[in-house]
Amino acid sequence: MSAPPPPDRADELENAVADENARLRAELAALRRAREQETRDLAQAQSLLQAIAEHAPIVIYAKDTGGRFILSNHRHSALLARSPHEVLGKREQDMIGPEAAAEIDAGTAVAMHERRIVTSEFTIPLPDGEHTFWESVFPLIDRYGDCYGLGGVATDVSERKRLEFEQRRTRDALLQREKMAALGGLVAGVAHEINTPLGVALTAVTHGQQILKRLRDDVEHGTLTRGELRRALAELDDSCVLTVDNLRRGAHLIQSFKKVAVDQSSEAVRRVALCEWLQDVVASLRPMLRAAGVEHELRCTPGPALELAVGALTQVLTNLVQNACVHAFAPEHAERRLLLSAACVGEVLRIECADNGRGIASEHASRVFEPFFTTRRREGGSGLGMHIVHNIVVERFGGRIELDPGPGGTRWKIELPLGTAAIRRTEG
Ligand SMILES: Nc1ncnc2c1ncn2[C@@H]1O[C@H](COP(=O)(O)OP(=O)(O)OP(=O)(O)O)[C@@H](O)[C@H]1O
Ligand SMILES: [Mg+2]
Repeated sequence: MSAPPPPDRADELENAVADENARLRAELAALRRAREQETRDLAQAQSLLQAIAEHAPIVIYAKDTGGRFILSNHRHSALLARSPHEVLGKREQDMIGPEAAAEIDAGTAVAMHERRIVTSEFTIPLPDGEHTFWESVFPLIDRYGDCYGLGGVATDVSERKRLEFEQRRTRDALLQREKMAALGGLVAGVAHEINTPLGVALTAVTHGQQILKRLRDDVEHGTLTRGELRRALAELDDSCVLTVDNLRRGAHLIQSFKKVAVDQSSEAVRRVALCEWLQDVVASLRPMLRAAGVEHELRCTPGPALELAVGALTQVLTNLVQNACVHAFAPEHAERRLLLSAACVGEVLRIECADNGRGIASEHASRVFEPFFTTRRREGGSGLGMHIVHNIVVERFGGRIELDPGPGGTRWKIELPLGTAAIRRTEG
């Protein structure tokens, strides 16, 4: 049996135990305080998240793995015309029917199985009508790495969709109106343009009638002299020439007008090999080029087979070549050349048409696409050729046409994007 410690040693031990007790009590109190703080922080974080979820102007929800709602913010439950309490514990199909639920659950299954965010847009019927949502769903993973449900955040884009639709409709209507206005302007322009040749032709014919009447009177009165007959015939000849010239000009105008006004969209699209087809087009233009003394060259890079609105593109090329023949060269111009090149570069068909003529004066360059702009009105130009070209390139092909401002002749650059109804690669 051991002897008890001496009295002063016992005091010492008692003090040490008391100190240790005090230290442990202090530590416990600190731990308790820290724990309380943690609980307060947690509660605050939770209420913060709850406040955000509650007041966010977007749909926020969470479901367990069985598809039952474990969170439904105000916006979510309001769209379902219920209170959050009525939503919790229920499944999608219990509230919006199996078809609409299937629409939503398509993304849900992928997000759960592949454990990733899935974003999609869908339209579903809700109690107050159809809504379109832009939604992201994501798996909820616990700290052991297990998926315990699914979260979803969705924005109601119905209003934006409706506005976009309205905007598109308004824009289409405006375009249509503009087209009609342009056509109206064109009709007015044609009427105005045709007025002159028709007026001149009418005057010439009326004058011819007067001469005929004079001749008839002279014959009836027996006063017709040989000199008088000769003069009358010469005058009749003049008025006939004037009439024919002007009626021809009127007919040309009407012909051009028909080309502008025709609904190009109804024209057929044909499968062609670009280079062979261009050779045919150029061959058909050869008589015109030969008559104008223009040497021509076609440079074509073979490319993919195309589905092409052949009539429309032929019209473009014909107008460009015709213009080169008519406008590019002064009578004394010796070496007259025209180069036509074409190649598919990436997703674009590039066509260039260049002559070595006098070029287009800078003050005219900005006006060449205007209807009725011509520098050869007296020779019968209607000024519709380049307007038609521009319309076809821009409206029909969705492409663009530019006048290269470089020196030496006129060079047109055309770009037509492949993949429109008017020109695309052939499949297969
Ligand atoms: N290759 C060219 N060289 C010089 N000028 C040109 C050339 N192509 C067009 N132009 C100018 O552009 C104008 C407009 O051409 P556009 O084809 O629209 O009308 P036009 O040829 O005068 O008449 P239309 O083609 O209707 O009979 C021409 O009058 C001419 O001044
Ligand atoms: Mg022309």
